[in-house]
Amino acid sequence: MSQKDNTVELLTGKNNFGKKSRIPAKLDFLQSVTGLFLALFITFHILFESSILFGKEAMYRLTKLFEGEPFIEGGEPLIITALAMVIFSMFIFHAFLAMRKFPASYKEYQRYRAHRELLNHQDTNLWFIQITTGFAMFFLGSIHLYMMMTSPEKIGPYASADRIFSDWMWPMYLLLLVSVVMHAWVGVYRLIIKWGWFDGKDPRKNRKRSKLIIKVLIAVYLFIGLVSLASYMKIGYDHQSDYGSRYVMEKIK
Ligand code: HEM
Repeated sequence: MSQKDNTVELLTGKNNFGKKSRIPAKLDFLQSVTGLFLALFITFHILFESSILFGKEAMYRLTKLFEGEPFIEGGEPLIITALAMVIFSMFIFHAFLAMRKFPASYKEYQRYRAHRELLNHQDTNLWFIQITTGFAMFFLGSIHLYMMMTSPEKIGPYASADRIFSDWMWPMYLLLLVSVVMHAWVGVYRLIIKWGWFDGKDPRKNRKRSKLIIKVLIAVYLFIGLVSLASYMKIGYDHQSDYGSRYVMEKIK
């Protein structure tokens, strides 16, 4: 199949023989897989990052673990660069696949709004949450991932806290946190509905239960993220006069 055929198939949803194309279904599937992978990543990321709540040493040890310290003396920040590059590629690919579903013009957006008001359909509202948080994350997530890729050595209890507090990154993290937590869990809920996971004998009841669990997870993750952010801010505030100096573990001071 030529490149041109592929593009026509993508735009019209039909192949050369006038039959329904399978490309949109394949792209949909890829969007679900990449989305699920990223949701899983962020679920663990927020937990790892909340290690600061157990103290500076806990966060420092975890950072060094990710830098491969058990195998490489002193750790290697380039491991973080590589990891961030993989996540960034997945993130961009997922956003690219999602762009197919964005309203293409203001007119199309107005039509969508009228439809939304008329139906007040919950799943249509969820779709709206997905495109607005996805749009915000496209910018905020890119800023964050770029910093992690280019300055992987500047991660740690003091380095992260200085960035968050003294470098004024906290408003960006606050917006990113709310967007990513909503986007990830609403996305997982939509996958549950779309692919009929856990439908069982009583799909209605199970979907209601899934919705409740997702709401609880959103609240829990927002709470963990906000408390961690506040903790970094407190450390950054106390560390202002020593801005730029790095954390050294007590025993080896
Ligand atoms: C391998 C890739 C990533 C690495 C190494 C990484 C690392 C970090 C680190 C070290 C922090 C603490 C703050 C700082 O040092 O600046 C942080 C915070 C944060 N990251 Fe990431 N991150 C990655 C990917 C992502 C992605 C893809 C997202 C979402 C799109 C994300 C969302 C956040 C949020 C929302 C916070 C603040 C959390 C809070 O408020 O508690 N991160 N990240």
